[in-house]
Amino acid sequence: MEYGIHSRTPLFFCLLFLFLLYTTIAFNHTTLRFHEAYSPLFSDFNIQRSPDDKTVRLLLNRFSGSGIISSDYYNYGFFSASIKLPAENTAGVVVAFYTSNVDTYERNHDELDIEFMGNVKGKPWRFQTNMYGNGSTSHGREERYRLWFDPSKDSHRYSILWTPKNTIFYVDEIPIREIVRNAAMAGDYPSKPMSLYATIWDASTWATNGGKEKVDYKYEPFVSEFTNLVLEGCIVDPTEQISSTNCTDRIASLLVKEYSTITSEGRKSMKWFREKYMYYSSCYDSIRYPVPPPECVVVPSEREMFQNSGRLREKMKFGGNHRRHRRGQRSRRPRKVEVTGQVAAL
Ligand SMILES: *[C@@H]1O[C@H](CO)[C@@H](O)[C@H](O)[C@H]1NC(C)=O
Ligand SMILES: *[C@@H]1O[C@H](CO)[C@@H](O)[C@H](O)[C@H]1NC(C)=O
Ligand SMILES: *[C@@H]1O[C@H](CO)[C@@H](O)[C@H](O)[C@H]1NC(C)=O
Repeated sequence: MEYGIHSRTPLFFCLLFLFLLYTTIAFNHTTLRFHEAYSPLFSDFNIQRSPDDKTVRLLLNRFSGSGIISSDYYNYGFFSASIKLPAENTAGVVVAFYTSNVDTYERNHDELDIEFMGNVKGKPWRFQTNMYGNGSTSHGREERYRLWFDPSKDSHRYSILWTPKNTIFYVDEIPIREIVRNAAMAGDYPSKPMSLYATIWDASTWATNGGKEKVDYKYEPFVSEFTNLVLEGCIVDPTEQISSTNCTDRIASLLVKEYSTITSEGRKSMKWFREKYMYYSSCYDSIRYPVPPPECVVVPSEREMFQNSGRLREKMKFGGNHRRHRRGQRSRRPRKVEVTGQVAAL
């Protein structure tokens, strides 16, 4: 791979990365079996569980995608799974790992997203993170990235930490994005109990090259595999008007977990990731947001990488294989929520 304008060599970054990786302590999680905390969401016939019930495969074929949901709602929590994505030609295929409460709050739902957007054969998977609070679907907070590995070769851990103070997205033990809650965000910060969802579905209309590349069912079934399932947090009943569950202690124990605070090593890894692999940020998209959303922290070293459209400057583009036509336009379209509960197009 070529890395364009960076004066430092790829080798330098590889060594730096390995150094950071091995100085980061792996998280200590209790993993769950599927039946302990999850339920099928749609298309059971495309959900395959391993005999030990620790691994679940979600398939997309010409008949349907598939999805699972946590059996409970969580009032803040840590949601994590090791995921292996489909290989070969995955244009138009979306694998989503996200928290939401759209089933309970149709009009003012909250949501935290990790969405993998497939790609044509030979080109890498890309993914985005996003946040909605209290139905803020008209102002998305997307960031888009590539990865430093092939996510269809091996399983890697993807995690969403959601606390009353901050939200952190992780890839393996690397924090890739932190949103620190502030008063100006008001309802835009998710604050109502959410469930965890994992889905695979046909997003031919938007996912790859602005919808130009559709799912090619010659390659079916598209198989995504989820294992090392982790759900930590305060389980509540969202239908109770005033929750009888007191989450104070559970939230306090969440806040002191190693993954709730980013160490100085973690900050270095995050900087490394964002400078190297982020290719769109709503925080730097001043065409869409003349005033950046209130939680945005403008990092000068990041800012200088992006045009006013929030996209990478031409000379910064990686390897020449990222066509990003009309992304901004697509991003401004409101989100549509499908009856099955999975989140559809941006
Ligand atoms: C990991 O978590 C378990 C259960 O919460 C605990 O008993 C154990 O001591 C922890 N191990 C480390 C290395 O922190
Ligand atoms: C969330 O939205 C509801 C309905 O639109 C509104 O009544 C409520 O005040 C909002 N909450 C916050 C925290 O903004
Ligand atoms: C919730 O629990 C905490 C700590 O256990 C306690 O201090 C607080 O008063 C409780 N709140 C309510 C509303 O019961």
